[in-house]
Amino acid sequence: VDDDLVRRFRTARRDPELAVVEGFHALKHALRFGAEIVEAVAVDPAELERLAADLAPDLVGDLATRTVPLPQETLAELVPLMPRTGVVAIARRPQVDVHAVLADPRPAPLVLLEDPRNIGNLGACVRVAAAAGAAGLLATGRNDPWYPDALRAGAGLHFALPVTVVEELPVSDRPLIAIDPEGEALRPGELPPRGVFAFGTERDGISAALLERADRRLGIPMAPGVSSLNLATTVSAVLFAQRLAGNAEAG
Ligand SMILES: C[S@@+](CC[C@H](N)C(=O)[O-])C[C@H]1O[C@@H](n2cnc3c(N)ncnc32)[C@H](O)[C@@H]1O
Repeated sequence: VDDDLVRRFRTARRDPELAVVEGFHALKHALRFGAEIVEAVAVDPAELERLAADLAPDLVGDLATRTVPLPQETLAELVPLMPRTGVVAIARRPQVDVHAVLADPRPAPLVLLEDPRNIGNLGACVRVAAAAGAAGLLATGRNDPWYPDALRAGAGLHFALPVTVVEELPVSDRPLIAIDPEGEALRPGELPPRGVFAFGTERDGISAALLERADRRLGIPMAPGVSSLNLATTVSAVLFAQRLAGNAEAG
């Protein structure tokens, strides 16, 4: 095993300038959305081309040339969990200018996750934000949406929109909407196109400080006896309620 290769992949996992992309699905989105790949290795580059022909014709011819073949045992040393498709890569994280994201004039909402705890949830939120054409996703707290497990859960869609951690939400001209089970019933047509939609932490919900700052507090009405939805499903419900109501157009 090439020690240097192992060291590069292991240190990249915690490097704030890099991202470890695991598996075909994540690499597909990374490439499609313009990721700068630093290096990529695969057990069978030709098999990646076959997968691309099936699942991502736009990338045919781009995968085998980018990946260095490596025996399965060596690749397994590089990552905690070997992807079924036998491919891993190191990419450069796009730089995010938070003020530019907030100033983005397009009619697209911004997702704010307050201290999300579950890494799989975090990835699922990025994925749905990308799918709904959101202007970006910001997260406060200790968990970085770029952690490799979040990138995997997000299917590599972190490269499709600005995604970053922030200490707190900077002031901007966007209306701040707290999405909270206790809020008044959300009506999709009323969601502001450039709103910041804030979602709370899994156990405790939105902080008092953020609720205080919010212009409105809206909730998704649920069946009696249900206290809350999962974080990522809530993000999905809100973003797609808005998109399907036709009052957000970007993306
Ligand atoms: C699992 S919930 C937190 C539950 C917490 N016990 C509470 O009462 O807020 C995580 C986040 O998902 C969102 N959420 C979950 N269910 C919701 C609902 N029915 N309406 C609006 N937001 C909801 C909120 O942003 C919430 O902070």
